Amino acid sequence: MSFQERFEELHRRHAAAELGGGDERVRRQHKAGKKTARERVDLLVDPGSFTELDKFVVHQTQDFGMAEQRIPGDGVVTGYGTVNGRLVFVFSQDFTVFGGSLSEAHAEKICKIMDQAMNVGAPVIGLNDSGGARIQDGVASLAGYAEVFERNVLASGVIPQISMIMGPCAGGAVYSPAMTDFIFMVKDTSYLFVTGPEVVKTVTHETVTQEELGGALTHTTRSGVADLAFENDVEALIELRRFMDFLPTSNRAQPPLRPTSDPSDRSEPSLETLVPSSPNKPYDMKELIAKVVDERDFFEIQPDFARNILIGFARMEGTTIGIVANQPMVLAGCLDIDSSRKAARFVRFCDCFNIPIVTFVDVPGFLPGTAQEYGAIIKHGAKLLFAFAEATVPKVTLITRKAYGGAYDVMSSKHLRGDINFAWPSAEIAVMGPKGAVEIIFRTDLGDKAAIEARTEEYREKFANPFVAASRGFIDDVILPRETRRRLCRALAMLRGKQLGNPPKKHDNIPL
Ligand code: HXC
Repeated sequence: MSFQERFEELHRRHAAAELGGGDERVRRQHKAGKKTARERVDLLVDPGSFTELDKFVVHQTQDFGMAEQRIPGDGVVTGYGTVNGRLVFVFSQDFTVFGGSLSEAHAEKICKIMDQAMNVGAPVIGLNDSGGARIQDGVASLAGYAEVFERNVLASGVIPQISMIMGPCAGGAVYSPAMTDFIFMVKDTSYLFVTGPEVVKTVTHETVTQEELGGALTHTTRSGVADLAFENDVEALIELRRFMDFLPTSNRAQPPLRPTSDPSDRSEPSLETLVPSSPNKPYDMKELIAKVVDERDFFEIQPDFARNILIGFARMEGTTIGIVANQPMVLAGCLDIDSSRKAARFVRFCDCFNIPIVTFVDVPGFLPGTAQEYGAIIKHGAKLLFAFAEATVPKVTLITRKAYGGAYDVMSSKHLRGDINFAWPSAEIAVMGPKGAVEIIFRTDLGDKAAIEARTEEYREKFANPFVAASRGFIDDVILPRETRRRLCRALAMLRGKQLGNPPKKHDNIPL
């Protein structure tokens, strides 16, 4: 073959790879409301930045007529590119090729970019759209999955790993996304479950649709498995680009800096009326977040799951911060199983990747009840306590109102190595609220309404304020609400050079 013929052969091979499973299957993919693997990559990375690898890789399976069906690329597009100028590695499964199913060769391609991402320190983004293990590949495909799983685990805490579920993801295949840092889903076209509706029907006699069992709404509202649900592929990938802007490229890197014109000393007088005078009245903690972060830009994660706690990314003076905040609008902001799990994992993500944590506290305590106790709130609540306690990144805390009991300790208190702990004058920091406290310590006076009222007032005066904690140094300063942004920015700036380590160990044993 002459060089000229080889050039032509190269063109032919490129064209064959880009055709994927053929026009008819691409048409079906579009008809289902889905973009193709390559269209998705193009939407995700900066124009012209993608370098594809292993475009000519084919599977080695001979059985079931597979020898005659070798499509270059073998059902997954892999490579690297940039998102707003920063390096990312991407794999994008091609449903038009054997349903995006994972063969040994397909797995090797994914593993190759995961290894390269680890070597250079860059995130891996998986665009998942796959019928699972390639049935014709037999145990080799199971081996391939396990190779990916092992890499997911070794990469955890070293490089950010993001899964975007854009089609089926079932069986053991769900466990790779499950071990990544964030799972996003597309509404109506994606699902995640361990066993599908038919198996469920056979085993438990429940009738359930794919969407109900493992669709985007199920996982973002009920199970908490997924972090966000998007309307369609385009919205999902645009939002993913926005999300990536908050993350450092690896645990060796600092969070990206985005210049802002929002002054760090911006005063926000309206915050002075945010907390209602009645302690039982709710208010929206999101308002506080929006008013103190750069340009009101808060990227909330899991907004529809465990809504009694808020988590997400924002920036202060251009630098990414992670926010954890009780939400008094839902369950009075108390901690329960779901909110503890939700926030604990987020705190650990921030700690892995050098992202300072700002915690806003208004928490009346842990949610009481048999459902919580039987569901192991002890272990789940301990996760959040553990996560805050082990975190060595800068930790700045602000108590706006209630900080009662164990929940006070948990929410990034001074005692868990909180670096700077502020309170507003409206803060109430005590073992419990006035009513509950008086009913216990003055039980004998319970029949005497006037006496109880007097005792309650006395307790409120003495304990339901920030000054007792401030007098012990548990609160570093009591600040005016309008000055919150300035004080948080200053604290974070002061903490930029923070260095703190935990004792050497193989790893910890967080209560799971
Ligand atoms: C090989 C597969 C495949 C698979 C789909 N295809 N899944 N080929 N191995 N696992 C092929 C189909 O043969 C078809 O090929 C094309 O992909 C599209 O599939 P359709 O069924 O036509 O599409 P659709 O109706 O949209 O249904 C999609 C689906 C269904 C729900 C994913 O295909 C399905 O149920 N597949 C099997 C899923 C499964 O059981 N996988 C194994 C799970 S166990 P043609 O040539 O017609 O286009 C597992 C274990 C992982 O994954 C273990 C890790 C430890």
